Amino acid sequence: MLRPQPQQQPRPTRTDRPPSPARLEAMIAGSNIVLGISGGIAAYKAVELLRRLIDAGAHVAPVMTDGAAHFVGETTLSALGSEPVQTSLWDESDPIPHTRLGQNADLIVVAPATARLIADYAIGRSHDLLTATLIATRAPVIVCPAMHTEMWEHPAVQDNIATLRRRGVIVVDPEEGRLAGGDVGAGRLAAPEIIVAAVEQALTAPDLAGLSVLVTAGGTREPIDPVRFIGNRSSGRQGHALAEEAAARGAAVTLVTTTAIPSSPAVDRVQVSTAAEMHDAVIGRSASSDVIVMAAAVADFTPVVVAEHKIKKADGVPTIELRPTTDTLAALGTNKTPGQTIVGFAAETFDVEANALGKLTRKGADLIVANDVGAPGVGFEHETNSVTILCASGRRHEVGLTSKRAVAREIFNLIIDERRA
Ligand code: CTP
Repeated sequence: MLRPQPQQQPRPTRTDRPPSPARLEAMIAGSNIVLGISGGIAAYKAVELLRRLIDAGAHVAPVMTDGAAHFVGETTLSALGSEPVQTSLWDESDPIPHTRLGQNADLIVVAPATARLIADYAIGRSHDLLTATLIATRAPVIVCPAMHTEMWEHPAVQDNIATLRRRGVIVVDPEEGRLAGGDVGAGRLAAPEIIVAAVEQALTAPDLAGLSVLVTAGGTREPIDPVRFIGNRSSGRQGHALAEEAAARGAAVTLVTTTAIPSSPAVDRVQVSTAAEMHDAVIGRSASSDVIVMAAAVADFTPVVVAEHKIKKADGVPTIELRPTTDTLAALGTNKTPGQTIVGFAAETFDVEANALGKLTRKGADLIVANDVGAPGVGFEHETNSVTILCASGRRHEVGLTSKRAVAREIFNLIIDERRA
């Protein structure tokens, strides 16, 4: 017997929505995301992912398999999601839930994706709401596998993953780490920030596509002896935010970093420690970079001699002779190639703009990002920042206290405008 179709409330799709007011900004806010959760122990981590996506402003419809219900509660997902969690193809109130979900989605994320879910999706077998939704969508799909190492490395699973990748599915590889039962190995669900970065990348307009962007991040460490170094308070968060933003907007990104902050797989990461290592890593890649952003806090001085063994108190107070490091930004400004954009940072505590302007001209940069690191919530060791961006063209742009990612967005908006001009 045919049931009467309930009147479905049309929800805005991505194409229905007015264009984002901030030019080409990340699209995560306002996007419709289906979060698929399949039955693995990592299902509990989907709760944190759901919360992060909601915090970022997305409309998230959670869908779970029967297996997932063994690991995470429906009440939790319904309480946190933008709509109640759905589990069944045969829900009385919504006779064709998979097509509604699939057609309205801007993006589907499956986290965790079990070996079974991956196999079903790879062969197009739809036997529950999540697999049916995956097949009923034209939206981009992100699959985040999580399973035991033996399963992850099994050729059948790897073949299915290769099939999905070939079809354009974005696969966020699992990490190495502790697994259920105390085993250690590859197969742990990627960290929530890595999955959120992949979501942002999948949803963001690729206005930096075709550009090679090199970003430096963190404070350098100049060794005194095997245990001590001269460092600074830079956390590297602003540099990492710049790298993730550029990658999300389609650039080929290299991040030269001193930090342990995780970066998304889309970012080519080069780990360094000293000013000299950073200099070599940047200069060696500069000719092939269209945009270079020197967000790192590079030491101006380094010890002339690094003691081979730990300096002992008993030897008395040491005198450490220092020599200047090479100024990488100035070297980039002097050897700029046609069409290249060089961006510096100026962390100041007084005469902020005057000092920053001096650096802009002295170092031959195109833009300089000045921040008053003495102000509350600004710069080093904070999650937030507030900057004034000064351009060689004379343009000046202020960004009030906001997240480092939002600052990164404004910096790249200005870089694009300056390159066009
Ligand atoms: N910088 C660099 N190489 C160095 C020192 C600094 O590339 N050896 C870069 C930084 O990455 C930043 C910019 O230069 O983009 C400004 O760094 P800052 O330390 O503020 O400038 P300095 O020229 O060192 O001036 P001062 O420390 O006297 O303020």
